[in-house]
Amino acid sequence: MKTAVTGIKPTGIPHLGNYLGMYRPALELARDLRAFYFIADYHALTVEAPPEVRRELSHQVAATSLALGLDPSRAVLYRQSDLPEVCELAWILACVTPKGLLNRAHAYKAARDANLASGRDADLGINVGLFNYPVLMASDVLILRANAVPVGQDQQQHMEILRDIAAAFNRRYGKLLTLPEALIDARVATIPGLDGRKMSKSYGNVIPIFAEPAELRRLVMRIRTDSRGPAEPKDPETDLVFQLYRHLADADAVAGLLQRYEAGGVGYAEAKELLAEALEAALGEPRRRYAEVRRDHALLEAVLSQGAAQARERAAPLLRAVRQAVGLG
Ligand code: ADP
Ligand code: TRP
Repeated sequence: MKTAVTGIKPTGIPHLGNYLGMYRPALELARDLRAFYFIADYHALTVEAPPEVRRELSHQVAATSLALGLDPSRAVLYRQSDLPEVCELAWILACVTPKGLLNRAHAYKAARDANLASGRDADLGINVGLFNYPVLMASDVLILRANAVPVGQDQQQHMEILRDIAAAFNRRYGKLLTLPEALIDARVATIPGLDGRKMSKSYGNVIPIFAEPAELRRLVMRIRTDSRGPAEPKDPETDLVFQLYRHLADADAVAGLLQRYEAGGVGYAEAKELLAEALEAALGEPRRRYAEVRRDHALLEAVLSQGAAQARERAAPLLRAVRQAVGLG
């Protein structure tokens, strides 16, 4: 059976873009693959935060995953820092990684370019953790000998770097590392936010998935639309309401609304009501489950520690083989 692994950064209240672009497709893979999901708390260290906030955010991701249908008896959920072996492998990988490869990585390059553009020192405020982020990510995947990595479009470059690092290791030390494929679902690559830009915390244009029904509805009513009246035909390719609806309602309902968009005769107010209903139908049950597990720290820790044991068991032989191959210990 093939193995999939993906990391989820603990960065705050999940929104519809995270759900449709990441959680939903990733969790679906557990049906056909041996799936490992981890909370990327080592990665989160590149950004400053109080320790108690970090712990809470990790539990938030665990509760979100369970609420959205992760079944711990079929898939493995663990906290990255409960598998400290990834740090050892990351160091070994760093030593076969050309620095130039990381100079081109987009997160580092963007921070550097922003400094240069405003006349500051190129590396001001940039920590080595951020620079090394792609190496740690490579280790996350390689240590579990994963074949498939479900990620968003924005992780494409990290996946290419990961494969380059694995190939460099294999050339030098023998073919111990499995080169994985990125699984990117093009249909949901970019979910638009209320204003039409990519839905993102940093743009303040999000629909939080666990918002109460009244709040969900209020946000849906704020989605930007053009000025076409109810009788006029509308463009389903550009209309934001339809762009969200098509990922949430069932196929018949989507086809029905599409037809009415093209023919004319449906107003944006009505389309928004339909979207609000579809959201509630998709998210009502997860919201209830989230409220149930979110404060159940004992349950969350039990799931995470069981997951960590399974991840460590799978990681151990690979790390032993790597240490042997490079001549450590
Ligand atoms: P944000 O942009 O809100 O800070 P994150 O970067 O924390 O979101 O997103 C985590 C993951 O969720 C991303 O790697 C990506 O796969 C997915 N994701 C986030 N926003 C979207 C979106 N608008 N459309 C599709 N996927 C998204
Ligand atoms: N870099 C990913 C993100 O920003 C999170 C991540 C860390 C990850 N390690 C990973 C994803 C390994 C897939 C596999 O969303």
